[in-house]
Amino acid sequence: MRVHRSAKTAAAALLIVFSLLTGACGTVPPGPSATPPQPSSARPGPGGSESPTEGTTASSPPASSQPPASSRPPESQEPEKPAVNCKKLKCIALTYDDGPSPETTPKLIKILKKHDVKATFFQLGSLASQYPEIVKDIHEQGSELANHSWDHDSLDRKSVDGAYQDIKKSSAAIEKACGCEVTLMRPPYGAVNKRVDKAAKKLGVAEIFWDVDTLDWQSHDPYDIRSKVLHGGGRNSIVLMHDIHATTIKAQDELIEKLLDKGYTLVTVSELLGTPKAGKRYPKSWANYGN
Ligand code: NI
Repeated sequence: MRVHRSAKTAAAALLIVFSLLTGACGTVPPGPSATPPQPSSARPGPGGSESPTEGTTASSPPASSQPPASSRPPESQEPEKPAVNCKKLKCIALTYDDGPSPETTPKLIKILKKHDVKATFFQLGSLASQYPEIVKDIHEQGSELANHSWDHDSLDRKSVDGAYQDIKKSSAAIEKACGCEVTLMRPPYGAVNKRVDKAAKKLGVAEIFWDVDTLDWQSHDPYDIRSKVLHGGGRNSIVLMHDIHATTIKAQDELIEKLLDKGYTLVTVSELLGTPKAGKRYPKSWANYGN
């Protein structure tokens, strides 16, 4: 036993020396930044942040194929963090829509890294396919990637199949970029109806809305954005923001610091909800909205 362990230690030491000599490094993501500048506001803009009304419940997870989780567990690997339990903790889920943007999203990733917190990004498939390296960086940072349609069309104006095709195309682009599985979607403008529900169910994604609308796209005021979250949010709130606005990014460092000071655990939407059900709307207050 002892011999075995010391042999292993020696092997590990050799490996480290070898790594130093060869300059090999551990996990180095491709790194962002090399992205071309984006044509200013390619999208109709998030005019919509409607008000909520009613809700639903959680249960089984959407079925989908997931890549096999990490490979073999070497003994030297740092222990995995235990899953968060939002029934016990004071959780809050910050969500960012309409990206990725090469100008603003990488800055947000840095801030999340600095505080070691997670968030959820509801992305447009059209932009995810344009900036796959940013999508990958978000995934590697530990935040969740989710679907916000292909190009910010109002899905409630489409047929079931139209909405289905739109969501499917977007998820495919995001999943290709992150190598992860997308199980959540947020309809643009919060515009939803039974056809959108059906399309989401068929695709195995849950529909995620919000409790707190910061109206960041309207105010462009970091102080106002923070105040909306700190005073309007509470335990287990889902907060709506947009990572395409410089003013929203400006609000984040201090916002996150204050939330942590108040004892919040910043989690992804999937962590918050546990196992949201495909085709169902969350939070519950949205259940009967727009039908
Ligand atoms: Ni949007």
